[in-house]
Amino acid sequence: MNTLIIKVDELMLKPQDLMVAAKILREGGLVAFPTETVYGLGANALDTLAARKIYEAKGRPSDNPLIVHISEISDLEVLAREIPEKAYQLANVFWPGPLTIILKKKDCVPNGTTGGLDTVAIRLPANPIARNLIAESGVYVAAPSANISGKPSPTKAEHVIKDMNGKIDMIIDGGMATLGLESTIIDLSGSTPVILRPGCITKVMLENVIGKVEVDPVILSKNPDPQAVPKAPGMKYRHYAPEGKLTIYEGDTTLVIDAINQKAKEKQDSGKCVGVIATDETSDLYRFGIVKTIGSRKDEASIAAGLYAILREFDELHTEYIYTESFADHSLGHAIMNRLLKAAGYRIVKVV
Ligand code: TXA
Ligand code: MG
Repeated sequence: MNTLIIKVDELMLKPQDLMVAAKILREGGLVAFPTETVYGLGANALDTLAARKIYEAKGRPSDNPLIVHISEISDLEVLAREIPEKAYQLANVFWPGPLTIILKKKDCVPNGTTGGLDTVAIRLPANPIARNLIAESGVYVAAPSANISGKPSPTKAEHVIKDMNGKIDMIIDGGMATLGLESTIIDLSGSTPVILRPGCITKVMLENVIGKVEVDPVILSKNPDPQAVPKAPGMKYRHYAPEGKLTIYEGDTTLVIDAINQKAKEKQDSGKCVGVIATDETSDLYRFGIVKTIGSRKDEASIAAGLYAILREFDELHTEYIYTESFADHSLGHAIMNRLLKAAGYRIVKVV
């Protein structure tokens, strides 16, 4: 398949820019597009055959449900039933934005989109290209992250091109995804709100709007029981995996740097390709391997934004061992550590 690639500037968006992409979606095709979190791979959410193409292009297990993207809050009522007041409270504060809400689904949402579940995940994205594309297409857009299943989510069009060129109808290059981590997922289909995936909208931010929120215990664990099943099916797969063996070092910064230097030297001396994930504050202190800085510790958002790109850069270099510092496990840091731990297969060394 010949994949059409177009560049669109979100600050100078013209109505005609998205006409071809919208038509492809209406006709059951696949279009990758930027959102403020990561790039999504879109198809008509109410068309089972279109949704099935997403699973094929990604190599994604079919029991892993898709998020349905909408362009107006009022679209909620078309897709979901028994919508609690808390859903509207969250939508009014955080939409458009990086929050996905799980609700009981209406019959119009096919099982092929929800992986057979009786619930549907819904998000109204903030990125103007994403939002205008959904509105212009006139369909609801099912969109997982636009990566091959198991790879880090794409934060730049070049990542999508690497994974999807030749497999989908179109890729819209809208520059870098600003946040860099997938949306927070909150389940409002039961009696208590539960966070199923941490993201840029934190537990505290949610609780400030709707009161008590729980967190799926499986995502809190640093050493999950392999038998434990997370409530978001996608969280059970080994995600965000770089090719190299990633290990997280945790502890006092000076000790962490010493330990990583020692390990990196050892592997490098034995002829291995070694990568180190450092921060602006520490990058000068590493002496072995390929050192890349992920962002500044003074600006956690820069670390979130840089994480997936750096994992992909190390893949390009066929790095065999990657060592990284760890980050404070609260607020946005909680989402960063959640992704990093998964990418590392929960390999974490505590330095004392
Ligand atoms: O930021 C994002 O959410 C991005 C952009 C493109 O919007 N999308 C994204 O989609 O991350 P994906 O498919 O990579 O992750 C969706 C997650 C999966 O873990 C899936 O299992 C979960 O949402 N999910 C979807 N529907 C669900 C449902 N009804 N119940 C529980 N979990 C659900
Ligand atoms: Mg994904």
